[in-house]
Amino acid sequence: MIASEKEIKAQEKEYYQSLDEFVQLCNEMIDKGLAYWVVVLSHELYRFLYPVEPYANITLAEPVKFVAEHIKKINASAKNVLETIYPYSFDLNQFADIRKESDVLGQSTSDLYADMWRNFDSMTLVEESLQLVKRRLPDDLIEKDILGKDVLDMGCGSGRYSIALAKVGAKSVSGVDWQKRAFEAARLWCEKNNQPVNFREGDVLNLPFENESFDFVFSNGVIHHTHSIQKGLQEIWRVLRSGKRSFLYIYAANGVFWKTRNVLREVFKRIPLSYTQNVLDVIGMPSNRFIFCDTWYVPVETHTTKQELHSMLDEIGFKYEKVFGKNEFDLDGALEKNISGAEIMWGDGEHRYILEKA
Ligand SMILES: C[S@@+](CC[C@H](N)C(=O)[O-])C[C@H]1O[C@@H](n2cnc3c(N)ncnc32)[C@H](O)[C@@H]1O
Repeated sequence: MIASEKEIKAQEKEYYQSLDEFVQLCNEMIDKGLAYWVVVLSHELYRFLYPVEPYANITLAEPVKFVAEHIKKINASAKNVLETIYPYSFDLNQFADIRKESDVLGQSTSDLYADMWRNFDSMTLVEESLQLVKRRLPDDLIEKDILGKDVLDMGCGSGRYSIALAKVGAKSVSGVDWQKRAFEAARLWCEKNNQPVNFREGDVLNLPFENESFDFVFSNGVIHHTHSIQKGLQEIWRVLRSGKRSFLYIYAANGVFWKTRNVLREVFKRIPLSYTQNVLDVIGMPSNRFIFCDTWYVPVETHTTKQELHSMLDEIGFKYEKVFGKNEFDLDGALEKNISGAEIMWGDGEHRYILEKA
């Protein structure tokens, strides 16, 4: 909806109020020897004042509204800079503290993801995940293992894949995650669109289902965030019907990629998530940008080698087959192409497997 002239005037007024505040904050930063930040933030403010910013993929459909909001983000960042000069006026180690308390780990993992997903629009939630499911799963699997079958989405998060699994033809989909806050939007969408998805709160290490309840278990990026990958795999085995299959995605280990990730996770223990989100906002990135916030802030993230994974699967009794990610950014594609130094770069790549309860 196009804003009225009155609304645009109000946005303009808001912008100038924020601009006054920005000037004050800049002076304060310069007084404290933080002129570097004044340059960065002024640049980020100014570049979005042009009708087109060639270095950022942003369409200024409502330019005044955009700049009025953008300058507020810049001011929030400037305040963060000023608050975090030594001695700190707030506890920069708050995330490190959360990570130490094991009983709240699961809860804070869900909090992190629930907050990130709040900003999903239904296009992302529904269409993108449908395309992803189609690309991720081998072609014959949807027909053989999902069509007309009872499916579990183990650690469903926002519920984006639960919806996609229903859309490709599952008879029923059960989506389980720690907190209903994560999948509330998807639950309402399913109700409105008559999709056979039943979301429920629960622990994936102690699934609220009888043995042998499902024909297919889908678990994408979940059990490496729990305190036991082995228990997660045992739960998949327990709830699968005999002879049925599962899609598993978990993080691998080794190589520059996974090791750098661990190092950066340590660095970012000292910077609050809200601070990083403000910086991302300022540079035109979505503040829920998974590749940054997920990686740096999730409380538990375990990296598993190929050997470790295979030995756990062997012990439980699964038959298994690796599937290769087909997206440009998936690590396996690069490994498959035998690029020189690929293993040094990406280690064991990523673990995407089809498991079978033999
Ligand atoms: C990276 S997200 C993946 C979500 C979803 N599978 C997807 O691909 O969009 C990880 C999810 O695992 C959930 N999770 C982690 N540990 C859990 C546990 N023990 N029980 C239930 N959910 C858990 C988190 O709440 C979070 O929603």
